[in-house]
Amino acid sequence: MKRALSAVLSLALMGLGGTALAAEDIVNTLHNLSSSAPVTNFYQTTSTASVCVFCHSPHTTTAAPKPLWNRGASAATYTMYNNTVSSTIDMTVEAQPVGVSLACLSCHDGTVAFDVLINGAGSGGFNPAGADQGWAWGVNGDLIANTRVTHLGNDLTGDHPISITYDNVADTAFNAAVAGKVGTLPLYTNRVECGSCHNPHEATNATFLRIANTASALCTTCHIK
Ligand code: HEC
Ligand code: HEC
Ligand code: HEC
Ligand code: HEC
Repeated sequence: MKRALSAVLSLALMGLGGTALAAEDIVNTLHNLSSSAPVTNFYQTTSTASVCVFCHSPHTTTAAPKPLWNRGASAATYTMYNNTVSSTIDMTVEAQPVGVSLACLSCHDGTVAFDVLINGAGSGGFNPAGADQGWAWGVNGDLIANTRVTHLGNDLTGDHPISITYDNVADTAFNAAVAGKVGTLPLYTNRVECGSCHNPHEATNATFLRIANTASALCTTCHIK
């Protein structure tokens, strides 16, 4: 009886695990910059089939700005969306992007080549400052071009505020955060970052959104509008 119950339980758990695994599927997204991408992405190398290497390495990387991060950081100075830009910003904005936003901007500001990595694929190729792996790219090159809508550049005043401390007392038109999240959207050290709205591993919803923005459901998770 006991054994039958635990068999049922472990089947149920396997089922849950399977669902969670099926949800995140970076291989089938624009974030697969490797030769293993099943469809031809606009940006893709022929030099490696490794998917994770463009962002993570299992060893010898720095902890910042994100887990086991493998990319050389952008040296850019950004113009932030803050209360100089908009007088109705009530919350505190960092002087420069931090954390996961900095990680995203290491490609999306268009200044750091995709293959500038701390630890290249395979043995060797370790350079703590990040080094260009010299991989082969198609005619679109190894940088997000400023003709792409995905190019955010260094002026972030035309982009939703990031690296901003979520504070629904300073502005009461916001839902309360509970245990570091607003609804299911994560805050990072209580800040809104790129990762609050996007999951870089998952494109079930268009543009890697954490929740579908049907009837602006993403926006109204935070904004009371
Ligand atoms: C385009 C960049 C990019 C690629 C490629 C990428 N990741 Fe990530 N990954 C990130 C970022 C950014 C974070 C931090 C996300 C956050 O804090 O919300 C992260 C976080 C993680 C985490 C910790 C948080 C979590 O979501 O569980 C794990 C584990 C992880 N990645 C595994 C992988 C694996 C395995 C691969 C390859 C199959 C991969 N990633 C490919 C950008 C990437
Ligand atoms: C290793 C480089 C790299 C990193 C790091 C990276 N991206 Fe991307 N991302 C890309 C490329 C390349 C594309 C495709 C661009 C194109 O085709 O114009 C892309 C596309 C996107 C798109 C558009 C998807 C679509 O369907 O149109 C979004 C949204 C996006 N990235 C968000 C993020 C966020 C958020 C982060 C950080 C959590 C991040 N990216 C980190 C390289 C990167
Ligand atoms: C408050 C939520 C939110 C934050 C924070 C946010 N984004 Fe987005 N982002 C969106 C939404 C919603 C879309 C889809 C817009 C559309 O469909 O045109 C989007 C689209 C994109 C696109 C695709 C280009 C486009 O306009 O279609 C990229 C690339 C992108 N975001 C990157 C980032 C990066 C990098 C950051 C951090 C610097 C970031 N986003 C922060 C909500 C957000
Ligand atoms: C994770 C929470 C979160 C989500 C999701 C979110 N926002 Fe925001 N938004 C904020 C915060 C925090 C501010 C800064 C408010 C302040 O300082 O008063 C802000 C500011 C803004 C502003 C600027 C207001 C000003 O005073 O200049 C606009 C416009 C805006 N958001 C629109 C959107 C839209 C549209 C969406 C959906 C695509 C969205 N937001 C999704 C948290 C969020």
